[in-house]
Amino acid sequence: MATMKFPFFDLTRQYQTLKEEVEPVILKIFEKQAFVMGDEVSFFERDVAKYIGVKHAITCSSGTDALVLALKALGIKPGDEVLTTPYSFFASTSAILLCEARPVFVDIKRDGYNLDPTKLEGALTKKTKGILPVHLFGQCADMEAILAFAKKHNLFVLEDAAQSIGAKYASKSAGSMGDMGAVSFYPTKNLGGAGEGGLVTTNDDVLAEKAKLLRVHGMKVRYTHDVLGWNSRHDATKAAYLRIKLKYLDGWVKQRALIAKRYSDEFSQLEKAGKLQLPRQLDGNHHVWNQFTILIENRDVVRKNLEEKGIPTDIYYPKTIPAQPVLKELGYGDIYSEAKYCADRALALPIFPELTESEQAQVIDALKKEKGSR
Ligand SMILES: Cc1ncc(COP(=O)(O)O)c(C=O)c1O
Repeated sequence: MATMKFPFFDLTRQYQTLKEEVEPVILKIFEKQAFVMGDEVSFFERDVAKYIGVKHAITCSSGTDALVLALKALGIKPGDEVLTTPYSFFASTSAILLCEARPVFVDIKRDGYNLDPTKLEGALTKKTKGILPVHLFGQCADMEAILAFAKKHNLFVLEDAAQSIGAKYASKSAGSMGDMGAVSFYPTKNLGGAGEGGLVTTNDDVLAEKAKLLRVHGMKVRYTHDVLGWNSRHDATKAAYLRIKLKYLDGWVKQRALIAKRYSDEFSQLEKAGKLQLPRQLDGNHHVWNQFTILIENRDVVRKNLEEKGIPTDIYYPKTIPAQPVLKELGYGDIYSEAKYCADRALALPIFPELTESEQAQVIDALKKEKGSR
């Protein structure tokens, strides 16, 4: 494998700007030796609830756990069906399966990469209990249509905002529009933590109480277990770190948006010539650019050629979820044509706040040369 000229993603650059602020806070927690939950977690939950604009923000062990906690709080039962996207990270589907419910896939719109609400009707059955749309790559799904459909058919909506903290749809934040939301703090996310972490969001007091109970073994009174929960508590060090980072999140997103704009401007001729398709911010959306994913023919060859020039790229996602080996027995088949179209052509270009202008220029030059416009 060729050596890359710079990394696809690099957290060490950001950490250098935070170090002085972070280290005393973390040391203080070590002095106290109070590592699980406590004030740091409560303060972060308060701050992040305000940031997202929800009444309740409940931290937990991971974005995957946030989805499972939310589904269980929403009362999902074995055999229930949940409408979801075939084009996402696997966890949006595995969370449904972990609750012994059945994911029913609804194809996506190529523009925006998210679930196509016009296809919801065709997937509805008597067993349908809810919709789990994913706000992929940093942009919200078409929530107006999804929420209207859910209301008409009395379904819950659980937003998978794992990749999209701070994204907005009609001025409302990802994770604040449905019955519940789930966020991930995996380090590669826009608000990346010091390890694993997740968040359940809701405006509903009852659902919040249920999620909190499930997070601690279903235990309100010590050693009395009212429901079957598990341990999904959050750590004080992680919460303290996220709380510091939250203050800078909007500034980092601005940097991401500048890079996205530069790529979009520079590649617009290639798009006009039909050589690639650019991601775009759809009307009424505030995109937070967790990824900048283009669609391009001969993706694997392009990727290999860029790699040989030392330009890093990645693929989100090379397979649709229904085509995953683990789901083979469920017999879905790779029949979701828009999702498949994207899985075959998606190529993510480097985008993170500290990516330098010269590095951006190298990506731009290499891809222009590769597509023969220079
Ligand atoms: C769309 C989506 N959903 C859920 C998750 C799960 O989050 P975590 O990795 O924190 O469990 C991720 C993480 O990559 C994700 O991208």
